[in-house]
Amino acid sequence: MNILLTGGAGYIGSLACVRLIEAGERPVIYDNLSNSSAAVVDRIAALTGVRPELVEGDIRDRARLDELLKRSPFDAAIHFAGSKAVGESTRDPLLYYDNNVHGSRVLLSALHDAGVRSIVFSSSATVYGDPDTVPLDEQAPTRPANTYGRTKLVIENMLRDLAVAAPDWSVTLLRYFNPVGAHPSGQLGEDPQGPPNNLVPYIAQVAVGRRPHLTVFGDDYATPDGTGVRDYIHVMDLVDGHIAALRRRHGQPGVRTYNLGTGRGHSVMEVLQAFERAAGRSIAHVVAPRRPGDVARYWADPALAARDLDWRAVRSLDDMCRDAWRWQKDNPDGYAAAPDRIRTA
Ligand code: NAD
Ligand code: UD1
Repeated sequence: MNILLTGGAGYIGSLACVRLIEAGERPVIYDNLSNSSAAVVDRIAALTGVRPELVEGDIRDRARLDELLKRSPFDAAIHFAGSKAVGESTRDPLLYYDNNVHGSRVLLSALHDAGVRSIVFSSSATVYGDPDTVPLDEQAPTRPANTYGRTKLVIENMLRDLAVAAPDWSVTLLRYFNPVGAHPSGQLGEDPQGPPNNLVPYIAQVAVGRRPHLTVFGDDYATPDGTGVRDYIHVMDLVDGHIAALRRRHGQPGVRTYNLGTGRGHSVMEVLQAFERAAGRSIAHVVAPRRPGDVARYWADPALAARDLDWRAVRSLDDMCRDAWRWQKDNPDGYAAAPDRIRTA
C-alpha cells in the first residue's frame, strides 16, 4: 500500500515508517519539520535500505497537499502530525486549535476530495482525563483536562461525523497510553527540544549527564509507593499496533477506537529503578510537590485491540529503558549529532 504519513519525521512516525518499509509498504512522509529533523530519513534509509520520500509541507497547506495527492495515489493515511505539549497547549490554546483541529480538517478535506478513504489517527489516553476506575476501556467517559486533550477529542469527533456523512470512510482512532523507548538499534528515538516534559526522556538526560537530577512530582498519591502510575508502552509495540490496524481495518468502513497500552501500570520510582538497571548507574532524584493537572494513576484495558486487531504489547519496562538508554547514550544531543554516528543495520 502507498501510505501517507503526516508527521512521519517525528518520534513515533519515523519508527512507524521503518516498520512499514519492513512490512513491504510504501510510506511517504509529509512533515513541516516543526518538531523534527530531516536527518531521520538518512537513519531510516540506513536501517532499512530504503529511503522514504520526505515531502516538507504543512497539513494546513491545502495547495501543497493537493499537489502531493494528485501525483501520488495513496491507499491510506496515518495522521501523526500535530502539537503535543500539554503546558504549551494551556498557554497558547489557539495554536493547538489551529495546528491540531484546523490542520486535521484541511487534511481530511484534501484526502476526501482525492478519494482517500482510510485513516489511522494518533489520539491519546489523555482524552479520558481523570478516570473513575482503572483499567480504562474504550467506553470510559471522555473528559480531557487540558487543551491538548480537548483538541484530540474534537478531531476524534470530526472523524466520527465524517464517517457518518460518508460511510465509505474507514477510520481507526488509536488512543496511545505513554509511549517510551526507541528503535532497538539506538538510531531513532525521541528528541525533545528544550527540557523534556515527560518522565523517561527526562531520566535519560539525567543519566547521560545533561541534567543534574530528576524531579519526582509528588510521592503522596494513593498508589503503592506514593508516586504516579502510568501505562508505559514500548514505542515499537505502539507502531506495530498501527501496522495491525492498517492490515485489519483497511477497506472496513466505519469508526473503531482502540486503546494501545500494555494493561500494566508502573510508578515513577519503578521506572527510575528500571532505568538505573538499564544504564548501570544510579540516577539522582529529588521529590517535589505534585505537578498541577496530574492524576494519580491510570492504565489501559487493551483487550479490544487484542481481539479485533490481534495485537498485544510484548516488550517489558526493562526493554523500554534499555532502548531509551541506547538511543540517549549514542545520541546525547539527539539528531544534532554528527552524521558519522549513523550506523547501518
Ligand atoms: P512529534 O512531535 O515527535 O511528531 C509530530 C510530527 O508532526 C513532527 O515531526 C512535527 O514536525 C510534525 N508536525 C507538527 N505540526 C505539523 C503540521 N502542521 N504539518 C505537518 N507536520 C507537522 O510527536 P510524536 O510523539 O511522534 O507524536 C505523534 C502523534 O502522536 C501526535 O499527534 C501526538 O499528539 C500523538 N501522541 C503522542 C504521544 C506521546 O507521548 N509521544 C502520546 C499520545 C499521542
Ligand atoms: C503526559 C500528558 C499527556 C500526554 C502524555 C504523553 C500531562 C498532564 N499529561 O502524560 O497528555 O498524552 O504526557 O506521553 O502532562 N513525572 C515526574 N517527573 C518528571 C516528569 C514526569 O515525576 O520530570 C511523573 C508525572 O508526574 C507522572 C509520570 O511521571 O506521574 C509520567 O509523566 P509524563 O511522562 O509527563 O506523562 P503523563 O503525565 O502521563
